[in-house]
This record gives sequence, structure tokens and C-alpha cells, in this order.
Amino acid sequence: MSKTLVQQQFGAHAAAYVTSAVHAKGASLTRVVELVGPKAGWHALDIATGAGHMALAFAPHVAKVVASDITPEMLAETAKLAAAKGHTNVETAEADAEALAFADASFDLVSCRIAPHHFANVPRFIAEVARVLRPGGTFALVDNISPCAETTPGFAADDLAAADVVYNLLEKIRDPSHGRALTAAAWRGLMAGSGLASAHQEIMDKTMPFRPWVKQQSVTAGRIAELEGIIEEASSCLAAFLKPAAIEGDDFTFTLRELVLIARKV
Ligand SMILES: C[S@@+](CC[C@H](N)C(=O)[O-])C[C@H]1O[C@@H](n2cnc3c(N)ncnc32)[C@H](O)[C@@H]1O
Repeated sequence: MSKTLVQQQFGAHAAAYVTSAVHAKGASLTRVVELVGPKAGWHALDIATGAGHMALAFAPHVAKVVASDITPEMLAETAKLAAAKGHTNVETAEADAEALAFADASFDLVSCRIAPHHFANVPRFIAEVARVLRPGGTFALVDNISPCAETTPGFAADDLAAADVVYNLLEKIRDPSHGRALTAAAWRGLMAGSGLASAHQEIMDKTMPFRPWVKQQSVTAGRIAELEGIIEEASSCLAAFLKPAAIEGDDFTFTLRELVLIARKV
């Protein structure tokens, strides 16, 4: 994905990510802290930190957190939020996930939450994580995943592959800086041989109200109608993945899935 497009898209909507429920309060925040078990002396790096929610969740438990991102407006929001919450051990740094501006083996913990689907070169990102982690260090990944047998059992491989394409199209119509959400199996394939050994994996559901989801990225009325049409006409496989459900006030919810993966540098 074009880094300029990412910076434009997130630069224009940075403030919305401070209060976005799925980012600020999503269940994966506390789950990741629980699974990682951070230690008081650790130096942590959060990649593609957005408004800094993952970095700030780790801040009370570690010595220092570097919250990094490619979009300066996002880092400004992170710095404001860290100050407002009284965290004095958080520093921000502009850094590309695929070319991290940090020394080898310089972190005990590296995290990255709800962001790799924007990265053009995920293998390069994984190699950079492995490079900056000390041996025995922990990698915590959370990202949206696309329909597969693990999220949506009982469908043929062709149906799942088609649903994967349409799900990624939905994301791209809503946010042109979306690259590709991978399947859980694709993530496992990319991790194999990376020097990061998977220690735990789970898939978490998150229920998204549609109108706040499109508002967060200032989606035009025409594109909102296009998204609604795609969801209304979804294949049975995609509908089983998205689980659209009417709610009050001319809105509906749908379900996304996050892969939570914890790995150790070998
Ligand atoms: C959805 S937001 C991240 C959410 C945040 N991690 C959280 O847990 O709330 C995606 C972020 O990825 C950043 N990003 C996208 N591509 C990047 C890259 N190549 N390197 C670093 N950051 C990137 C964007 O600037 C944006 O801030």
C-alpha cells in the first residue's frame, strides 16, 4: 500500500482514532496485556500505534514504551493522550513498519495491533520485528483477518476464497489505504521461518456498528450505499462471516475477526 496514501488517510482522520470504540476499548487490548505478561524492566515498541492505545495499555507495566507510526498526526494524538493519562514513560517516534529506525535486539516486547492490513510488505515487517527484538523477546500481533475455515466453518474453499476477496473489497471501499487482511493460516505461513516462534493464537470477534465505522473514515454517501449493497447481497459464506444484524436508529452491526498471535524470538 502507498505510504503517502496511508499518511493522507490517517493524517486526515487522526483525532477519530482517539475515541474510536474498537481501537480505544477493544477487548484485544486487555487480552494482549494478559497474554504477554509484561515485566517492569522491559523496553517495549508499539508499531503503527495509531492513537497509541496498545502502547498506553502496556505503559503502566513496563519501563519504557516507544510508540511508533508513519503518520505524524497520529503520533501527535498519541503524545497528547499519553500526557492526558499521565504516562511519563511513553515516547513517540516516526518509523516505517517495514524499515524500523531502531537498533538490532533493542526491545523486550514488540506489539502491532490492527495495522498490518495496511502494510505493503508484511514479510519485511515480520523480519524487522525479529531484528529489533532481543532473543527471547515477545511479539504481540493483533490484526483483522479475512474469512477462512477457522472463522467461518462449513463452507467450501472456493466460497471462502470468494468471501475473502469481497471482504477485502469492502474494507478498501471504506478506506482506500487498506491493503489486505490475511487469513489466520496465511499469518502462520508468514511466521514460519521468521525466527519468531508462535506461542499462542486465538481469534476474537468484534461487533462493529456500520454507521460509526464509515463515519470514522468520512466515507461518501455514494460509497456508503455501495457498501450497504455489497453487505445486503453477500453470499451465504460472507454473510456467515459478517453476521449483519439490524439495530436501533437506521443502523446495523456486523462482525469482524481479530487474530491475536503471541510469539517469541528464538
Ligand atoms: C488502525 S490504525 C492503528 C490502530 C492502533 N494500533 C490501535 O491499536 O488503536 C493504523 C495505523 O497504521 C499506520 N501505518 C500504516 N502503514 C504503516 C507503516 N508502513 N508503518 C508504520 N505505520 C503504518 C497508520 O498511520 C495508522 O496510524
